[in-house]
Amino acid sequence: MKQYHTNINKRSRFTLTPEPDPAAAEHLAPFEPGQIKSRVEAALTIQNDFFPCFDWTFPPPITQRQTGTLSPGELFQAPSAVPGRYSLYLHIPYCATLCKFCYYPVMPGRAADEMDDYVGHLLQEMALYADVLADRKCESVYIGGGTPTYLHERQLTALFEALQRHFAFTPDAEITIESAPGTIPDAKLALLRQLGVNRLSYGIQTLDTDLLADLNRSYSVPAALRELEAAVATIGNVNIDTMYGFEGESDRALLDTLEQFVSLGIPCVSIYSLDGQRCERERVRFAPSQDPMFDRKLVIFRAARAYLHEQGFTPVLQNIFLKPDRASYRHQLRRWENLPLVALGMGSMGYAPRRLYQNHLSLKNYYAAVEAGQLPIVESEPLTAELEIAREMVSQLRFTQVDLARVRDKYGVDVGAVFEDLIDALVELGYVERRGDVIRLTNAAEPYNNIIPMLFAPNRFKEVIFALPEEYRENFPLPAVLANVGATQSRPIRAARP
Ligand SMILES: C[S@@+](CC[C@H](N)C(=O)[O-])C[C@H]1O[C@@H](n2cnc3c(N)ncnc32)[C@H](O)[C@@H]1O
Ligand code: SF4
Repeated sequence: MKQYHTNINKRSRFTLTPEPDPAAAEHLAPFEPGQIKSRVEAALTIQNDFFPCFDWTFPPPITQRQTGTLSPGELFQAPSAVPGRYSLYLHIPYCATLCKFCYYPVMPGRAADEMDDYVGHLLQEMALYADVLADRKCESVYIGGGTPTYLHERQLTALFEALQRHFAFTPDAEITIESAPGTIPDAKLALLRQLGVNRLSYGIQTLDTDLLADLNRSYSVPAALRELEAAVATIGNVNIDTMYGFEGESDRALLDTLEQFVSLGIPCVSIYSLDGQRCERERVRFAPSQDPMFDRKLVIFRAARAYLHEQGFTPVLQNIFLKPDRASYRHQLRRWENLPLVALGMGSMGYAPRRLYQNHLSLKNYYAAVEAGQLPIVESEPLTAELEIAREMVSQLRFTQVDLARVRDKYGVDVGAVFEDLIDALVELGYVERRGDVIRLTNAAEPYNNIIPMLFAPNRFKEVIFALPEEYRENFPLPAVLANVGATQSRPIRAARP
């Protein structure tokens, strides 16, 4: 009996919870000194997986999630890794038009009254959280989409007034809104500033006009650059999203685009590799992801990274670069410190203490839940204390670096000692460099950067891998590597916190 969805891909989950495999203990038997290095060396082979994978997450989407909603009290009952603090994400699913490559849950070209209705429901959802969060402070808000600045001024005003009414903020809270060309005339920009927005993320993707036409992004490049210049003057803390890896893209397209943004004084740049697999919504497949542009993307990405480094940008995530004195990126970074993230809106994904959760993906179900006075949660995944620590360590290593001393001080677990042999093996193989307590992936690890951090998953979590169908374990890069490497802990993980 197949235990997985026929169209399994990076986001799919198994339809049945796998039975524990009685042989798991044998596969995860303690290793001899030196054995782990040869196992890692043999298991890692280039798989042409996506680079850098756009939607990488830990824990990986292997086991089934729990369906059904939870009360606010249930959602926040576990101890928080960052007591007294949280952040907010609001999803606005509206855009002017639908771009060819985009697979976000968005609804293009909708009328004002439909958006009024959605904003009304968001306000009701906020109210559901107000009591449980009353004695905690919000340290960042991220309004994403879609294109939130496609909302009308009165709708934006209503949203911000409700945020102020329902939540308490730290004095330096980072408030980000996503935007796209043609949606922030000067008056709206001034309003956003007045409402408290102190970071703007502008999705422009490329300045190559031929590419833009092919992507169904029909704006004038000079007009977009003028809008962006005004945003830098008004808000200052501005990020631009760029993309690469399109068919027919010239070798220099990304570099030419970046040069123009640098000359405009943009202080933060995100560069995304096109994830084409996810755009093919209708394609049914059971096969590992293979990116035909893998090698070319590595070349383009390395050239862009070198250029941004020369221009004084610092990487804050693997693909996000900023000038630290002129830009911030706190909201996203704090996610990997296990800061609770309250998800508002259709399809939003959140993190309550030790629980990942997601809201309904259909507008109808989202509205029905909110109208019934329930949190519109469709599914969630509780994490053990061990997995929460691993989430922080694994995600930080994947995205730039992890400070083992900080993790030890925060959770009372010496993760450097727990994974001592694995770290030594990865350092000897040249995939990780270590400076004091800080470890980071080297450039040699790039082809495996979706997988090497996963080796730091707790042994107990890896037991699930051995219960997966053999077909999946043999053919998909992540389960194949984890199964072949086996145990990676030198010592048990014992969390100091309950
Ligand atoms: C939620 S979108 C919102 C930004 C804005 N609406 C815009 O026009 O770009 C955030 C970013 O995800 C990236 N993105 C969207 N689809 C993608 C895909 N298929 N592969 C890689 N990156 C993608 C784009 O860079 C986009 O700016
Ligand atoms: S890329 Fe941005 S503007 Fe285009 S459809 Fe996606 S969210 Fe909307």
